[in-house]
Amino acid sequence: MREEDFVFNSPENRILDDGFVTWKSPSNIALVKYWGKSDPQIPKNPSISFTLNNCHTITTLEYSKKEFLSKKQVISVIFEGKTKEEFKPKIEEFFKRILVYVSFIADYDFVIKTENSFPHSSGIASSASGMSALALGIMSLEKKLNPSLEREYFLNKASFLSRLGSGSAARSIEGPLVVWGKHPIIGNSSDLYGTIFPFKTDPVFENYQDTILLVDQGEKQVSSTIGHNLMHSHPYAENRFAQARKNLGKLTEVLQTGDIKEFIKIVESEALALHAMMMTSDPYFILMKPNTLKIINKIWEFRKRTNSNICFTLDAGANVHVLFPNREKKEVDLFISNELISFCQNNKYICDSLGEGAEIVI
Ligand code: PMV
Repeated sequence: MREEDFVFNSPENRILDDGFVTWKSPSNIALVKYWGKSDPQIPKNPSISFTLNNCHTITTLEYSKKEFLSKKQVISVIFEGKTKEEFKPKIEEFFKRILVYVSFIADYDFVIKTENSFPHSSGIASSASGMSALALGIMSLEKKLNPSLEREYFLNKASFLSRLGSGSAARSIEGPLVVWGKHPIIGNSSDLYGTIFPFKTDPVFENYQDTILLVDQGEKQVSSTIGHNLMHSHPYAENRFAQARKNLGKLTEVLQTGDIKEFIKIVESEALALHAMMMTSDPYFILMKPNTLKIINKIWEFRKRTNSNICFTLDAGANVHVLFPNREKKEVDLFISNELISFCQNNKYICDSLGEGAEIVI
């Protein structure tokens, strides 16, 4: 689908009665990372992610028709029960960006009530689940205005709108494996929205586990917006984009054949490449913490000792995502609780696994 296919146009100018809609949308963890973009949120390389199951945002979008259409729109944001003025600029900017595709939103005032199942700005992609939950709410309004909308269009446009809020949010609508960004061997892939990985995956990846070790739950020192921008003048940028494309090609094979050792190599290399880009940009920065490295070394040691198929990946933060096949859960859970939890802030971690994507609540 092309960009112009996502512009809302309805012959009648209907206004909905006041109401609300609630969506639950998951976070995702990239296996091949997106880092670097051009306007408007077009990725410099394709990426692929596991959709998570337990880490999610629940967002209720309350809409009420504006008293006069010429009146300035009011958007209120309530996060975990409290008014959050500091979230408003990002959401207002998002509404501005998507207005051309969903012009009907200009007719309403909104109250956005949102809550996460995980700590905000902890390196777990709260922007991915948050923006996708909001985009889905807006798509529910479009569906009320145009009940003949088809499911595929609904999902693609929800991902398209999510992308304009936060790139990685484009991969949070569906699951369990989502590709975003054009790649020649993935026929239906697009830079504009995420699509489900189109090939049959090996059973070893069924119900794959992701235990997220919360090494540092503070706010990130460098936002991903700044990080993406630094890729414009990065000396290794072009090679990095080529590496990611190549890794996505290799991973596409591996996901089908179940070559888990190769899976581990690609996934860990991608995590380290992402952080290497941060460490070699101008200005440089480091998001890992000493305990991030201690955990990585422990994982390598355990893998060598036991021939386990455990591996790690990292997001733009210090937390470590420990990935492993469901059939190894017993041994790995024991290893995590005996040897890794002491490296987490306040011993906190989240057990997650692959999920199927967003769900409407009401
Ligand atoms: O969606 P953004 O703009 O916050 O970028 C996030 C990028 C990474 O999480 C670091 C990698 C990825 O592909 O999710």
